[in-house]
Amino acid sequence: MIRRFRPSDLERVKEITLLGFEGVSIDHGMEKRFGVIAGKDWKWRKARSLDDDVEANSDGVFVYEADGAVVGYITTRLDAESAIGWIPNIAIDPGHQGRGIGRALMQAALDYLRASGMRYAKIETLEQNQKGQAFYPSVGFQEVARQIHYLMRL
Ligand SMILES: CC(C)(COP(=O)(O)OP(=O)(O)OC[C@H]1O[C@@H](n2cnc3c(N)ncnc32)[C@H](O)[C@@H]1OP(=O)(O)O)[C@@H](O)C(=O)NCCC(=O)NCCS
Repeated sequence: MIRRFRPSDLERVKEITLLGFEGVSIDHGMEKRFGVIAGKDWKWRKARSLDDDVEANSDGVFVYEADGAVVGYITTRLDAESAIGWIPNIAIDPGHQGRGIGRALMQAALDYLRASGMRYAKIETLEQNQKGQAFYPSVGFQEVARQIHYLMRL
């Protein structure tokens, strides 16, 4: 069952994020090369991005509940001026992946973006994320650019 996010979901959503994004997040890649930065690990930085999503648009955060427990979520942002919506984060608990939950959440998010007046939706994935690269084109996204992320010690 898909429902709107509630503030009490936040800790579970962060937990799913950290399980799901292991190895497929920019912050984790930074840590693998440079180690923990300023006493903060990749999990701290990645979890913080969920605070940002909820603060920016909690009405556009959806969770998937199975047997009364949250097992996946998706976040969205609206940009009324450009009419381009954004999906910053989606993750499913690894024990529930591969069963259509991500696809169902994606459809809910796209419906929400359409109903909110967005004309386009954008999303990013990493080169090392094979699931994302299979998933997003299958929903209708078309690749428009590739980016390289750099980091240096100061
Ligand atoms: C990517 C993710 C959200 C997909 O959710 P899911 O519930 O596992 O996926 P679904 O079962 O709905 O499948 C959707 C599509 O994802 C792709 N996919 C799912 N599992 C896959 C796998 N093991 N290998 C390759 N592609 C896969 C397929 O295209 C699949 O469509 P299909 O079943 O018609 O072939 C989920 O695997 C996840 O949380 N991954 C870790 C976090 C992450 O990478 N988030 C996205 C960052 S850009």
